[in-house]
Amino acid sequence: MCGIVGVTGTDNSVSILINGLEKLEYRGYDSAGILVNDSESNNHLVKQTGDISNLKKLVDNKVKGHSGIGHTRWATHGGVTVENSHPQFSNDERFYLVHNGVIENYKELKQEYLSDVNFKSQTDTEVIVQLVDKFVVKDGLSTKDAFKKAISLLGNSSYGFLLIDTEDPETLYVAKNKSPLLIGKCDGYNVVCSDSVAMLNETKTFMEIEDGDFLIVKPNSVFVEDKNGKEVTRDTFEVDIDPSEADKGTYPNYMLKEVDEQPNVMRHLASKYLDQDGMPVIDKKLLDDINKSDRLYIVGAGTSYHAGLVGKALFEKMVKIPTEVVVSSEFAYADPLLPNKPFFIFLSQSGETADSREVLSNINKKGYSSLTITNVANSTLSREATYTLLLEAGPEISVASTKAYTAQIALEAILAKAVGISINNEKANNFDIKQQLGLVATGMQAVIEEKQQIEEIANEYFVKANRAFYIGRGIDYYVSMEASLKLKEISYVQAEGFASGELKHGTIALIEEGTPVIGIISQDKTAGLTRSNLEETAARGAKIITIAKQSIAKDGDTFIIPDVDELLTPLVTVIPAQLLAYYTSLNKNLNVDRPRNLAKSVTVQ
Ligand code: M6R
Repeated sequence: MCGIVGVTGTDNSVSILINGLEKLEYRGYDSAGILVNDSESNNHLVKQTGDISNLKKLVDNKVKGHSGIGHTRWATHGGVTVENSHPQFSNDERFYLVHNGVIENYKELKQEYLSDVNFKSQTDTEVIVQLVDKFVVKDGLSTKDAFKKAISLLGNSSYGFLLIDTEDPETLYVAKNKSPLLIGKCDGYNVVCSDSVAMLNETKTFMEIEDGDFLIVKPNSVFVEDKNGKEVTRDTFEVDIDPSEADKGTYPNYMLKEVDEQPNVMRHLASKYLDQDGMPVIDKKLLDDINKSDRLYIVGAGTSYHAGLVGKALFEKMVKIPTEVVVSSEFAYADPLLPNKPFFIFLSQSGETADSREVLSNINKKGYSSLTITNVANSTLSREATYTLLLEAGPEISVASTKAYTAQIALEAILAKAVGISINNEKANNFDIKQQLGLVATGMQAVIEEKQQIEEIANEYFVKANRAFYIGRGIDYYVSMEASLKLKEISYVQAEGFASGELKHGTIALIEEGTPVIGIISQDKTAGLTRSNLEETAARGAKIITIAKQSIAKDGDTFIIPDVDELLTPLVTVIPAQLLAYYTSLNKNLNVDRPRNLAKSVTVQ
């Protein structure tokens, strides 16, 4: 979703902003812009729709800056136009503002305070910058007080704001509520960004900002007030990512790189969370809190929700606590009937998903304990949960989540094993997680090496298809849901993941000559049934593809997956599905990493 960058105190401002925006491209956007102010106090506003490359064409050597702000916009209020892109500015061109989030009451504010103002855009953001201008120019407030007054009128809206007053351009005004924003501390200048990835070339030292904070950022100082107006200091943290990890190197796109990285992610998780004897090393307090609970809730959205479904099987088998998996956007407003001692596990690659955060805020108010499993240290969901376990999968840039999904499942397995052995559960005691993750890594690698065959199948079955079905039972059904999400989000083939037994209760009516149906067959007890269901679709003209575990494979199976423990098969069966989606998208000449309409980090509800 939208991305924010800002800088004050260096003549490299233009390149810092543009590089930062390029690093944020992966989040998804449809227009971009910068405002820089040069040492002679000239303002340069450059905005354009489409890719950053379009914006760069307009940034000639006359565009210079000593400070500035920049933005990638993912349209919410108003279409994709230059007028609606950010920075938005006041009519007297004194104030410029970039914004992530949604101002819920912008229409009311417009009516109440700004009925005499001509608006240039349809955005909620322009209302705020015009308000600041009114409070300064007409009401005589200082910029600081005007900005704070405007913020005080926003109710429960979500925002990350970065404001510049061109009469004092070295001062950046910053405010945050429910939208990620960080300050980066550099040598002699400072930067602001919505994701540390944007500024890793400038610094590795970042300052957390909390909801309700108001900041004044200058080249050599950062002033912070909390939501009660009290001056506070906020902790800094180091981001331990080599900027090159966020580059795609020699790969044609990030998704392929991230798919290929999965065997190493498995090995890394094993070395990080298991001791030499293969026993999990996890905070005992966390294990005790889980053990004390009478029901586990796994909360997530999209791919993270799908990883949660596999987690349910892992926890129920090894921990024996009933486990519910919930879609965060639904659970947040469902007013659920909770048991006495629920424990919440949040799954989120980004750690910033607004829907999941809404659930976390609700359960924090009720005083329940929680764990966030995320790829991003110091992310909002990580900071606000009682415990955090990091995926350490390296930056995932492609919108389609791949290595985060498999890392989430592997870490759930390690956690379930840890809790399980603490209560002497037999399955957990016998589950050799270290050996299994080794087998998984090798199995993944074997599938990855079959890329050519996978590409051929993608070309033969999917590139021209309008519709496809993945089917399976139990854990294979959960992978079917993830597999179909991958296919639809990057290749725009309408795909559904189905419980294979459920097809004949209605959906089989959609099968026609040539419809691809992919069966996932990794569980001994249900393999025969899924095969029968595939036959039923073949009898109606479907083209059948199978992803089958080696020990139960049959002649004619399309992809044969090396054997791993039945609970961990999703880690391997998902790989051909990821690559089928990848090659379908690639050979349809689509943008694999940045599919239309989607954003990597979904920071609005
Ligand atoms: O960052 P999160 O894991 O919380 O994101 C949740 C979903 O938005 C995300 O998994 C989405 O479904 C992916 N694009 C799927 O590939």
